Amino acid sequence: MAEEKWVVMVTAQTPTNIAVIKYWGKRDEVRILPINGSISVTLDPDHLCTLTTVSVSPSFDRDRMWLNGKEISLSGSRYQNCLREIRSRADDVEDKEKGIKIAKKDWEKLHLHIASHNNFPTAAGLASSAAGFACLVFALAKLMNVNEDPSQLSAIARQGSGSACRSLFGGFVKWNMGNKEDGSDSVAVQLVDDKHWDDLVIIIAVVSSREKETSSTSGMRESVETSLLLQHRAKEVVPVRILQMEEAIKNRDFTSFTKLTCSDSNQFHAVCMDTSPPIFYMNDTSHSIISLVEKWNRSAGTPEIAYTFDAGPNAVLIAKNRKVAVELMQGLLYCFPPKPDTDMKSYVLGDTSIVKEAGLEGELPQGIKDKIGSQDQKGEVSYFICSRPGRGPVVLQDQTQALLHPQTGLPK
Ligand code: DP6
Repeated sequence: MAEEKWVVMVTAQTPTNIAVIKYWGKRDEVRILPINGSISVTLDPDHLCTLTTVSVSPSFDRDRMWLNGKEISLSGSRYQNCLREIRSRADDVEDKEKGIKIAKKDWEKLHLHIASHNNFPTAAGLASSAAGFACLVFALAKLMNVNEDPSQLSAIARQGSGSACRSLFGGFVKWNMGNKEDGSDSVAVQLVDDKHWDDLVIIIAVVSSREKETSSTSGMRESVETSLLLQHRAKEVVPVRILQMEEAIKNRDFTSFTKLTCSDSNQFHAVCMDTSPPIFYMNDTSHSIISLVEKWNRSAGTPEIAYTFDAGPNAVLIAKNRKVAVELMQGLLYCFPPKPDTDMKSYVLGDTSIVKEAGLEGELPQGIKDKIGSQDQKGEVSYFICSRPGRGPVVLQDQTQALLHPQTGLPK
């Protein structure tokens, strides 16, 4: 087989996800097993996703990977664990058209080329490892004819990055913490698909940050070691919230959803403060956005916007419906206008129809001014991304989208 020149490849697209009940803390650092369950919403891959092409050829002499065009090392244990787990489940593959047959036992000897690309700026500090590992595992499973359902694949993606397990599904997704030592029950399951609650609009404010942030991995390790609040959260708070959140999602109960989402984000950041030394992920701009949303909801008399922040200053705002989202966008652009040399096209990305509908001419309507209050919002937003709940991973049939050359298996 060594002289053969064929290349077989698969290209997949996988969404990113944002937790509304947060994962923070591991009980097993190697298998990546969490101390509590979590729930996330998958974002529309048209706006935020990873594209990965995986390929195999007898002419490849070692496993190689390129991330956003740059070759990276696969020697880290997280990559190695994912590759080992997926290889051990590989099956016979036959491409009749090309006359290629790969026997199950050959996968151990064959090498892989992998190229991955995010459709959003890496510098944005948006969780790219979630979509990245999910896409790697999903694409390899297709290439190797692995006969496992998405939940079983999620347990492999989890070993790349915890939050990645939730990107194997669209809609709203729960990661069951599980209690088995081998982690086989620590898997993601879909709660509802992306059509269930498609009124929701998700606006991400990418907040400028000058400081280098503590990575999630080391931040959560420090919290596990030092925060008593984290222990209380994992044992007493999250199990109840998970049940309440499942109910809120099932019933499309935006009031409960907002209460739970905001409280859980705030408790996660309180845990970070309770860590020694304390970790500050949010900055003044993040705090300004929280104040804006709190004011808005109070003035509306009923929650219309939920906020959540991950391990960084970016705000993820979930609006109850499109009408609220359009008004919110008007308010946000009023409070955080683009710099004079920035045009709107590069300031609002994703579903730009929202900003078109918001209309930027003339005075901000009094009704919206009342909702955001008189407060002079300070801070800097680099740009906004408008999105919505989205679907899970898919294989792309269009070969022109592949990131690797079909003859050489090298990046295009
Ligand atoms: C704050 O999944 O990035 O985004 O498992 O160490 O790779 P590792 O951490 P990671 O942590 C994500 C933390 C979070 C909350 C969440 O997504 O649930």
